[in-house]
Amino acid sequence: MNEPDSDERDTIVARRSSALDGEVRIGGAKNSVLKLMAACLGAEGRHVLANVPDISDVSLMCELLEAMGVIVTRDDHRLILDVPAELHTEAPYHLVERMRASIVVLGPLLARFGTARVALPGGDDFGPRPIDMHLRALESLGAVFSTEHGDISARADTLTGADVVLEYPSVGATENVLMAAVRAKGRTHIHNAAREPEIGDLVGFLNAMGAKVGWAGDRLRIDGVERLHPIRSDSGYRVIADRIEASTYLAAVGMCGGSVFLRGAVADHMTMLIRKLTEMGMHIAPDAAGVQATATGRLVAADISTLPYPGLATDYKPFLVAMLTTASGVAIVTENIFTGRFRYIDELRRMGADIRTEGHHAVIRGAEHLSGAPVRSHDIRAGAALVVAGLAAEGQTEVAGASHIDRGYEDLVGKLVGIGATVSRS
Ligand code: EPU
Repeated sequence: MNEPDSDERDTIVARRSSALDGEVRIGGAKNSVLKLMAACLGAEGRHVLANVPDISDVSLMCELLEAMGVIVTRDDHRLILDVPAELHTEAPYHLVERMRASIVVLGPLLARFGTARVALPGGDDFGPRPIDMHLRALESLGAVFSTEHGDISARADTLTGADVVLEYPSVGATENVLMAAVRAKGRTHIHNAAREPEIGDLVGFLNAMGAKVGWAGDRLRIDGVERLHPIRSDSGYRVIADRIEASTYLAAVGMCGGSVFLRGAVADHMTMLIRKLTEMGMHIAPDAAGVQATATGRLVAADISTLPYPGLATDYKPFLVAMLTTASGVAIVTENIFTGRFRYIDELRRMGADIRTEGHHAVIRGAEHLSGAPVRSHDIRAGAALVVAGLAAEGQTEVAGASHIDRGYEDLVGKLVGIGATVSRS
């Protein structure tokens, strides 16, 4: 029998599942590996990354790097990037449009070649997503920008270290300016830099490439170096664990009950989330190899407010909202990062969730049961949260648009089946 083509397999079907148990392996962090791949542009030679998740955003970033002239080899969670001396310093619209994170090639290209042309990313399902802070921060180092035909052209004859002040700790702006500053002349301080674990991973990677980056109190301090080199380790640089993937399985346990070991999950990267889940009635026990998550009985409601790290990440919110739809009590959820990030709530309402939204707040009154329904995934996390909600709903939930989920999840269905969930791809 022929395999159905990818369009036909764009739906995930979830059924009410009983208590989950067993073990699930947490992969490398999407939001780290994409930036490490961009950082490789900063040095000629062979770069090796390990613990690379098999997700479609990594494939897209590979396509972008290949279009620039990088030779990419992928095997079993390893990625080898052969970066030549010369590169096409352009990121075309058809690739940037499919993945906003492509914008992070700007910093390393400017640092190494003094020139870059990157298509302006458009808005997305969270609403407008400007890059003004990326550009202002790079201008502080001496870059000059012009916009033409939908592309940003950047030039910098010399980048010079400076005091860069971010008005908000933007993850992407911090990464772009950091990857430029590592080769600027002199010292840069980034004030109000983002502090997410993925930023820590990028700092570790750049330092392994010969950069001089460290924290000076609450500022990121970068002493520019003449050149970078690929890291000197045959086994490659190991990408940190994906805390957002981990939060997905934590939510599944919270909604279905049971006890699951999340192998590789790093509790220190999820302190606030673990505190919140504990408040809701889960038991989370970290050890050196991962995190054991247990839930017995119905969860209780807790208010949630998203904030930059170390606050509760906006990426956790769809999972927390899903959990709150069946928890006992009423919760107020406030989104402070992406104010448009409530779209999936209409889908949860189709499953019987009692949620009212007002501006960037949502009031959720926990129901005894959700009711399975056809719903649609509009972004990676929202899609995965709908699948998780489907595991706790009566009947069958069909989540269309599963390709959004594939952007950030390696085998979500297989991993859920592995811990006893009733879910399939069709
Ligand atoms: N912002 C601006 N101007 C800028 C940059 C950001 O106004 O120049 C605003 C954004 O519009 C948003 C806020 O600042 O309201 C935060 O944006 P940030 O730059 O911190 O986010 P990002 O770098 O675009 C990354 C992750 C997101 C995650 C956010 C917040 C990647 C590829 N993406 O986005 O992850 O939600 O940080 O932590 O690292 C996902 O994985 O699905 C995802 C969306």
